[in-house]
Amino acid sequence: WPLIAREVEAIETLKRERNAVVLGHNYQAPEIFNTVADIVGDSLALAREAVTVDADVIVMAGVHFMAETAKLLNPSKTVLMPDMGAGCSLADSITAADIRLLKQRYPGVPVVTYVNTSAEVKAESDYCCTSGNAVKVVRAVAKEWGVTRILMLPDEFLAQNVQKQVPELELIAWKGHCEVHERFTPQDIRDLRENHPGVVVLAHPECPPEVVAEADYAGSTAGMADYVRDEKPARVVLITECSMADNVAVNHPDIEFVRPCNLCPHMRRITLPNIRRALETMTTQVEIDPATAGRARLAVERMLAIR
Ligand code: 13P
Ligand code: SF4
Repeated sequence: WPLIAREVEAIETLKRERNAVVLGHNYQAPEIFNTVADIVGDSLALAREAVTVDADVIVMAGVHFMAETAKLLNPSKTVLMPDMGAGCSLADSITAADIRLLKQRYPGVPVVTYVNTSAEVKAESDYCCTSGNAVKVVRAVAKEWGVTRILMLPDEFLAQNVQKQVPELELIAWKGHCEVHERFTPQDIRDLRENHPGVVVLAHPECPPEVVAEADYAGSTAGMADYVRDEKPARVVLITECSMADNVAVNHPDIEFVRPCNLCPHMRRITLPNIRRALETMTTQVEIDPATAGRARLAVERMLAIR
């Protein structure tokens, strides 16, 4: 604890000196999430807040695609990534060339890409979406384009889970998976229910559809946090990344959180010492080629315009 306190104090001083804010994703470790993070939330909230921050410097306590999204929306600000190696298996599953080939194969079919992608992939896309707004986005795109087929990339399971909610549309998926959520199985959920009677099961829609089918609720990280706040289940399990339950539990001491979870190795690369170093050295700055950025920004802004 004294070490954590020292790091937090140093970061707070640097934030003031640099006029910086720290954006923290819901999967960040509690010692970051509950201390130096000024704005916390799911991918959608972080994208929305990135537009409004009144600071010269944004430090992303999250993964690389989140920092790129913040930079896209704030081209004149300095966006710092404490560890450039904090990637994402979904972002790594598809390239801009893949999207170009898909567009040739499905001419006239709009491309909706998950925000968990590189700026190059976003630049080839018509719209972005997050797990928090995916259903709303595909419905809006179908209406606006007057189509029933949509390419929804690259998360196969998210596309399949969204497909169940929009039977009137045909979502064409890709084979990308989140390395954290793909590991959960329906048997895990059945075992949990047997071993923890009455447990309410909340799952992220990056989980396989068979897992979501066994859950009581599926939603983005913010959706899960809101469910706990509003429904106040006596006993709950969050089928997602491990830090999520730690962070939500802080506000709900009366709720029992059952803790099987999987760790995201990318999120874990962000630490208090590397946030401090990023602010001390002003590295590593996220840069996006201007031509790519212009097109990618459009896809993100079109998403943000859908309410
Ligand atoms: P959310 O958009 O739900 O925060 O999810 C981001 C993510 O990386 C989930 O694995
Ligand atoms: Fe990517 Fe999965 Fe980690 Fe989220 S939890 S950042 S989707 S690898």
